[in-house]
Amino acid sequence: MEKKLVVANIGMQFGMSHVEGAMSCGVEIAAICDCNEANLRAAGERYGIPEEKQFTDYMDIVNNKDINVVTVAIPDQQHKKVACDLLRAGKHVLCEKPLALTREDLEEIVKVADESDAKFMVGQICRFTPAFEKAKEIVESGTIGEIYFIESEYAHDYMKLVDTWRSDPDRHGVIGGGCHAVDLIRWLVGDPQEVFAYGTHKLLPQVSYDDATIAIMKFDENVAGKVFVSTGCKRDYTMRTVIYGTKGTLICDNTSPTMTLFVTDDDGNTLPAQTIDVQVNNHNAAKEFEVFADAILNDKPVLTDAREGSKTVEVCLSIVESSKTGKPVRPDYEFLKK
Ligand SMILES: NC(=O)c1ccc[n+]([C@@H]2O[C@H](COP(=O)([O-])OP(=O)(O)OC[C@H]3O[C@@H](n4cnc5c(N)ncnc54)[C@H](O)[C@@H]3O)[C@@H](O)[C@H]2O)c1
Repeated sequence: MEKKLVVANIGMQFGMSHVEGAMSCGVEIAAICDCNEANLRAAGERYGIPEEKQFTDYMDIVNNKDINVVTVAIPDQQHKKVACDLLRAGKHVLCEKPLALTREDLEEIVKVADESDAKFMVGQICRFTPAFEKAKEIVESGTIGEIYFIESEYAHDYMKLVDTWRSDPDRHGVIGGGCHAVDLIRWLVGDPQEVFAYGTHKLLPQVSYDDATIAIMKFDENVAGKVFVSTGCKRDYTMRTVIYGTKGTLICDNTSPTMTLFVTDDDGNTLPAQTIDVQVNNHNAAKEFEVFADAILNDKPVLTDAREGSKTVEVCLSIVESSKTGKPVRPDYEFLKK
């Protein structure tokens, strides 16, 4: 395993957070790439990256033998092609969420990642959000007992983004943004066995898909869940998440500086709410990159590998299917088995 990370970043909009994440880990950026020259040059100037290290064609990154780590933040529809080209060239890849928009693309990425010796990680950044890291710690400590119900939401106003690739009919809001809430729930309680969903369409008539969806889900072990996704909501961005356990309840949000914890005494009485202060950092790209670099340098498993990223999208696809057919759908995890 190489001990020096030679990093390139593709996509210079949200992808600038990857540049900053890598830089904050003390890594020098070997190259940046964006097919839009204005975006490329602006990022180059912002981070002091010279023009000879700036490329408009991602194949220049693929073919550069010195580069061994690449982050990808380009429209979701292109993740499969670019990620697979990079993996086939032996690069370690950190690819933005959602991993892909179709089952065919998920299958291909999983296959190519399996065939590669390189590490592949999907940027499910909420797993590095301080409030959600803390929630995971509290759940695993047993403080709130056994979970019997979990709900999460992704409410984010996309009004200004309706004219972009985000309006592609395949890029349903449940997949594009809702994947954050679905992934968070999967991380905390596991894979849902069945989902049922309703959609409404009142806020963004310009897009072809529903702008609000509510999904309920059934897990093994007597656990139920709910995800609400709104891409036209009239409020600040939130991923409010409530975890109900047999001994307590936890309320948290990626955009709130406090979490609320209820626990019970020895007689089962609910004690007054405790407030836990937490840092607000809903795009913790520094921690994400640090974890990815650690996996590469120390040959550790990746937290959100191609299968994890695929399972999250599979649940999202099932939610969309249920909202269209009016029938419950069982996510199909079979194609992800080795
Ligand atoms: N983790 C998060 O919270 C989060 C937030 C925002 C976006 N994202 C994800 O990041 C990705 C990018 O989103 P964005 O908001 O930056 O989109 P964007 O459309 O604002 O920017 C995409 C950039 O990629 C460039 N690009 C497009 N195709 C390219 C190619 N083939 N080669 C090189 N450059 C290319 C574009 O010119 C543009 O500069 C998407 O997958 C999105 O879902 C994740």
